[in-house]
Amino acid sequence: MTEQIVTPWEVSGEGEIDYDRLIKDFGSNRISNELIARIESAIGTKAHPWLKRGIFFSERDMNQILASYEKGEPFYVYTGRGPSSEALHLGHMIPFTFTKWLQDAFGCIVVIQLTDDEKFLWKDLKFDEARRFALENAKDIIACGFSPERTFIFRDTDYIHTMYPNIIKIARLTTTSTARAVFGFTNSDNIGKHVFPAIQAAPSFASTFPKIFGTTDETVLRKIRCLIPCAIDQDPYFRVTRDIAKRMKYPKPSLLHAQFLPSLHGAGSKMSASVGGTSIFMTDSKKQIKKKINKYAFSGGRATVEEQRELGADLKVDVPFHYLCYFLHDDVELERIRKDYSEGRMLTGEVKAILIKILQDLVMEHQEKRKDVTDKDVELFMTPRYMEVYEKKSEPIATVEETREGKE
Ligand code: TRP
Repeated sequence: MTEQIVTPWEVSGEGEIDYDRLIKDFGSNRISNELIARIESAIGTKAHPWLKRGIFFSERDMNQILASYEKGEPFYVYTGRGPSSEALHLGHMIPFTFTKWLQDAFGCIVVIQLTDDEKFLWKDLKFDEARRFALENAKDIIACGFSPERTFIFRDTDYIHTMYPNIIKIARLTTTSTARAVFGFTNSDNIGKHVFPAIQAAPSFASTFPKIFGTTDETVLRKIRCLIPCAIDQDPYFRVTRDIAKRMKYPKPSLLHAQFLPSLHGAGSKMSASVGGTSIFMTDSKKQIKKKINKYAFSGGRATVEEQRELGADLKVDVPFHYLCYFLHDDVELERIRKDYSEGRMLTGEVKAILIKILQDLVMEHQEKRKDVTDKDVELFMTPRYMEVYEKKSEPIATVEETREGKE
């Protein structure tokens, strides 16, 4: 077996990431067709393509969330971002785009943690820089279209006071040896890192948000379940959280895990802000997007046109096709490209051209929306305030397809 490392701060291995093995090693469950069907019947509309296409591929206790929802009991969604850079890349957008869909589908409250403290402890970043990146990133997150009525975004170094009771309780329940075993800390790691897992765990418990839920009554708060959509590398934090939930007298948070969007170079890598030329940033121009895809996106197409016509592309290693599975939501069109490209009727250049257009539209649309986000908006989203647990839905929300058509 080749070595495969997936931790919150390192994703590496030879060749492709073996997601089946991660499910086994982490002890989570593959998202089944039955679960997707149950989600669809709960929300009364189609599941997001990322669920159907296995991009969100693994879960813990999603059935518990659905059971609560079906009974009209409350749950909320918690996700986050480590503000290590000023601009987000496409890979960073995956959890937020999906979380925004969850909010529309379930009408639920979303809380978003900006871990400026984490990035200060781990990266070569100045304190003020990390705090500033957090606010810049908040604008990108708001631009995803979250509801101002039921979304709370918080920066750890601001919100720490309210979180502190839970942080200190979690910290007391977590031994140094657990932290070392799960996160690989050593003697030379600073002590801030040893405490940080408690800070990322705290938002999994509703009492971290007394203003949002409008009560400090633990008997009420303990009934509110938490669902965490995240990339699979964040799972170690939540394994520890789930282990201590019972002793916190709280339900274990549920999870939906995403695969990593590979870098343009392909197999085995995840898109990284620190490796130049391998990522598409949400600040890129149309020209940059076109150039990066054409120049760097690893192709599974054959060396010559003749060979391609005869053999077809190897879709397993083809980055442009892999990206289409993320960003082309039309199932029929995707299937057509899959067939034509793998059977040699399409060339890499044609597939790349389709991808370039989709990503240019997506990134330009994001830039437009981000431009409209004001400091006042940021302030509103970052103000702790009371929210209704569920939006009262008067009519069924649009399906993903309808939403897209409406935009085009
Ligand atoms: N640690 C995450 C990162 O570096 C940020 C984060 C905090 C997060 N809380 C979360 C991510 C909850 C997913 C879910 O990006």
